[in-house]
Amino acid sequence: MPKLSRVIPGKLKLFAVLGYPLKHSLSPVMHEAGFERLKLFSHRYLALELNPNSFKKFINSKKSLLLDGFNLTIPHKQTVIAYLDKITPEAKMIGAVNVVFRRGKRWVGDNTDAYGFIKSLRMEVNWRSKGKTALIFGAGGAARACVQALCKDRIRQIIILNRTFSKAHELTIFFRKNFPKIKFQALPLKAGKTRQLLKDADLVVNTTSLGLKKSDAAVLEIKDFLQPRAIKGKGIAVDLIYNPSVTPFLRNARRAGWKAVNGAGMLLYQGAKSFELWTGKKAPVKEMKKALQSALKDLT
Ligand code: ATR
Repeated sequence: MPKLSRVIPGKLKLFAVLGYPLKHSLSPVMHEAGFERLKLFSHRYLALELNPNSFKKFINSKKSLLLDGFNLTIPHKQTVIAYLDKITPEAKMIGAVNVVFRRGKRWVGDNTDAYGFIKSLRMEVNWRSKGKTALIFGAGGAARACVQALCKDRIRQIIILNRTFSKAHELTIFFRKNFPKIKFQALPLKAGKTRQLLKDADLVVNTTSLGLKKSDAAVLEIKDFLQPRAIKGKGIAVDLIYNPSVTPFLRNARRAGWKAVNGAGMLLYQGAKSFELWTGKKAPVKEMKKALQSALKDLT
């Protein structure tokens, strides 16, 4: 009969992701693999599914004090800000917090999505933003993180296309103020109107939720990607969605010869950075990636 381990792990340290819905969250698997690799046996990571009402109750109750740090996902990334002692300039600019850690008795909110986005591009396609043009579809929280990351990486031009034009417009006004050297343009999202823009784009990013459902239309068609290009070589298409691993948008891009990158890398690197903020140790990215990839395979 197997014996229970006799190793006493020390004081339990609890971490969690708070979101709603959370059915298929991959964060627990990824962080547990990291803890295991670094022999942090007293560290555990949970998925806490909390609707907006339960979230407020939880965060106001003593239960939240049991946590040593946490991640936030939809729909709590903005709501949480009111409950924190401090947020980093990064999170302030993006207007969203995806990770909370303790500094003494204070709760600090940060945003590692922007880091995750640019790091994944760097690692997967050796991306450098300097002198480049990016088209961003969507103008929500995820788009803000991508725009901020590209601005900090010194991109030349960003064009934002959104169904609700006013949101794209507001976003460009805000970032123009913070990054006056970068060219910004806001446009309404209309089928067939983007073809010309793709000629001059080095990078095209889908930050909308289009592609999550099987019935969703593609954000761009193959003929959009097949435009004779004004700039040398093929561009890079990124979808922040990682399940399905290939959305219609990425499939079309790939068929037209573009390099396609999904959101798994961004998930990995935002998680790795959260891990480092909590533990003060270098995240074992290789093991975390392996765990993530195997969990992703199980989802499909
Ligand atoms: P996130 O934090 O993931 O960015 P969000 O802030 O709710 O989520 O933003 C969702 C984005 O996806 C928005 O840009 C939204 O467009 P609107 O501003 O017009 O709402 C976009 N989006 C969602 N569903 C869409 C659809 N069916 N077609 C086009 N854009 C869509």
